[in-house]
Amino acid sequence: MGDQVIKRAGRLQGCPTIPGDKSISHRAAIMSLLCRETIEARNFAPGDDCARSLGAVEMVGGRVERDGTVIRLTPPAAGVKAAAEPIDCGNSGTTMRLLAGLLCGSGVPARLVGDQSLSNRPMYRIIEPLRRMNAAIETTESGTAPIEIGTAPLIPIDYTLPVASSQVKSCLLLAGLSSRNAVILKEKVLTRDHTERMVNHFGGRVEIEDVAAQVMPDPDDPRKKKRFIPTEEYKRKITLSTSGPLQGGVIDIPGDISTAAYFISAALIVPGSHIILKNVGLNPTRAAFLNLLRQMGANIAIKNRTMLSGEPAGDIEVAHSRLKPRRIGGNVIANLIDEIPMLAVLAAFLEGTSVIRDAGELRHKESDRLAAITGNLRAMGVKVGEFPDGLAIEGTGEVNAAAVDSYGDHRIAMAFAVAGLGAHGQTIIKNSQAVSVSCPEFFAMLNGLRVV
Ligand code: S3P
Repeated sequence: MGDQVIKRAGRLQGCPTIPGDKSISHRAAIMSLLCRETIEARNFAPGDDCARSLGAVEMVGGRVERDGTVIRLTPPAAGVKAAAEPIDCGNSGTTMRLLAGLLCGSGVPARLVGDQSLSNRPMYRIIEPLRRMNAAIETTESGTAPIEIGTAPLIPIDYTLPVASSQVKSCLLLAGLSSRNAVILKEKVLTRDHTERMVNHFGGRVEIEDVAAQVMPDPDDPRKKKRFIPTEEYKRKITLSTSGPLQGGVIDIPGDISTAAYFISAALIVPGSHIILKNVGLNPTRAAFLNLLRQMGANIAIKNRTMLSGEPAGDIEVAHSRLKPRRIGGNVIANLIDEIPMLAVLAAFLEGTSVIRDAGELRHKESDRLAAITGNLRAMGVKVGEFPDGLAIEGTGEVNAAAVDSYGDHRIAMAFAVAGLGAHGQTIIKNSQAVSVSCPEFFAMLNGLRVV
């Protein structure tokens, strides 16, 4: 695909079908290895990332039948087997981290490898707690892939997560599930809870206990308004007490809110636009982007709320709106972490300064997203300040077209394609093929919304 040219848009209108949620699809694929019965995953995510999870499942003995977006996953009759070759997780951090947990608990050796970007991402965050569970697991000296897994019997764990990461949490839950060990995890910051919901959906048992909060004076400034302080050093306790295999069955996967975010933002940026996105996941640990946009003044309506296989979902209707800049930071960041590239681009189209802090995790994604956003926005003539953990974007409402790079990162490619719709001139997205990891049809879908 190489370069993609994006012309300024006149007006957007339509009802694009948002592909299935990537996080939920990965989990359905990997969890199938621990079920008694076949999983039928409907509306499974397209794209290379989830295809890596499917490929990995086949390599360790699972059967995968593909029929468009319906995937039937049949667990290996005699349990997970050792793969004949290293398992290539490609660009997918979720495949590598979740699979590592499951394989450590399954008692089969494995070697997990990834592409250049994935081979630079931190793996020590899963190695350290897996070793506490007695796993035999090694990485390079810098704590990156390849990951080498040996065979060792695991033990239970009671662990406070030091990083706000659902991948780490899910890795440990899968290690516990596959080794039939109890797992207690404490989260100081709530992260996406798809694994917990899916274990319960497939007949297992994960209990969630939210720690009571007390109204106390703000310790940083006692004169200020009182705020809720949790009575423990963590906010949520997650207890896995499943002792047998999961049941399996059908799972209906909602549209991916992280992909929807680009279309929502496109409609907000381009005057006169109005779009409807049906059946999108609205899990509260993922939906902070929508709440924030509403606080900024976005005209967004949620309709037809429903539950799909244990996950909240609904239709999102959005019309072009004039937004006000905001300052964001703290715990909310974990619940809109994948939407920050889009948010930063949106900020360039507003009048005033937007600030994003406490988002240092973005430096460890498919690219160093803070650096990628800064470089691209500056190329488009936007004033940006870069901090170790965030950005300050001085929006004027006017953005110039430029040649920008995806840095091999799907979310950077998609966010800047949306920028191109509102920029003056023709924007070129270099290495635009990066979109294939989560939304291969992205550019066609975006162009399909143009009315003028
Ligand atoms: C994901 C969790 C997040 C997110 C990633 C998908 C998941 O990563 O950024 O795109 O499916 O669990 P971290 O767990 O590293 O925060």
